[in-house]
Amino acid sequence: MDLEEIKQQFIDALSKVGSEKDLAELEVEFLGRKGKLTTVLKGLSDLTIVEKKRIGGAANELKEFIAEEFRIKNLEFRMKKWELIGEQEKQDINSIIPDSRFQIPPSTLGHIHPISNFLFKINRVFEEMEYEVVDGYEIETDYYNFTALGTHLDHPARDEQDTFYIKDLEHPDKKDLLLRTQTSAMQVRYMKKHPLPIKIIIPGKTYRRDNDATHSPMFHQFEGLVVGEGITLGDLKSTLMIAMKKLLGENTKIRFRSSYFPFVEPGLEVDVTCAICKGSGCNVCKNTGWLELLGAGMVHPDVLKAGGIDSEKYSGFAFGTGVERMVMVKHAIPSLKLLYENDIRFLEQF
Ligand code: DAH
Repeated sequence: MDLEEIKQQFIDALSKVGSEKDLAELEVEFLGRKGKLTTVLKGLSDLTIVEKKRIGGAANELKEFIAEEFRIKNLEFRMKKWELIGEQEKQDINSIIPDSRFQIPPSTLGHIHPISNFLFKINRVFEEMEYEVVDGYEIETDYYNFTALGTHLDHPARDEQDTFYIKDLEHPDKKDLLLRTQTSAMQVRYMKKHPLPIKIIIPGKTYRRDNDATHSPMFHQFEGLVVGEGITLGDLKSTLMIAMKKLLGENTKIRFRSSYFPFVEPGLEVDVTCAICKGSGCNVCKNTGWLELLGAGMVHPDVLKAGGIDSEKYSGFAFGTGVERMVMVKHAIPSLKLLYENDIRFLEQF
């Protein structure tokens, strides 16, 4: 049986699982000693080396996928159990408290916040494109956040990203610790430590000293970085085209405009079809049908050099954007602050 078929069968069967017992049976059916996937993996020894590599890799990936889905489903069952135990305890306590004002109210099960949800989605979309998801540091040095990215001490681009500097209590004279203003800060850090090719996505919190209707001192960004031999602007364009469709909807189009960021050359501003009017023009997109969403470009040779990479031989592209902004665009949310107020009436809509 082919792997796609096994995957589809598994997904169908998993959606029908109603109990822990069903789940355990399904696990045996797919991953057990005589399970469907195990049979494929065992059959590999009869294949040629080339086929072994091709099918083996895909089969192992599927195995990991199935195992992860089992873990998630198991967790769901366990959470349900705790919920029931909690409800029972609550009823027991309430039954001995006669005054209803002092009884414990029934609980409501929360769910994942739209920002976290979108971050998971970003990871999933890029993992499907074989990117590695990398964690960065929220406390950074001035060097990686600015200088290594071509934003030297007197560079005007620093003003736009004024941030929070941090005292290093052990080294009071050092003044170079800060809360990162951009996930781009991980670019050079990562290049220095990892062999090529690099293909990573870096989601995470970033900080700037802005606070108004459309800005918050803490917000999320994600950054993409690809470096290797022969990487072109065409690769950047197709990557963003695929990713934006997956993240914002199949009908999303993108458009590039030239722009400036100190760490890319050429630098680009990337617009996507306005998710609210679908491109026909509305007040959110100022009747243009487009929303400015990402910064991107080809990694500047100086940045490659700072990362210890031969800029004559290798090239790369990078892109970065704010997660809140994407969530707002996707769900037509009018104000950034709604995402942080934790008002249940708002959150329940997602
Ligand atoms: N870091 C930029 C910002 O916060 C966004 C950005 C622009 C990231 C261009 C990139 C890029 O990787 O190539 O405004």
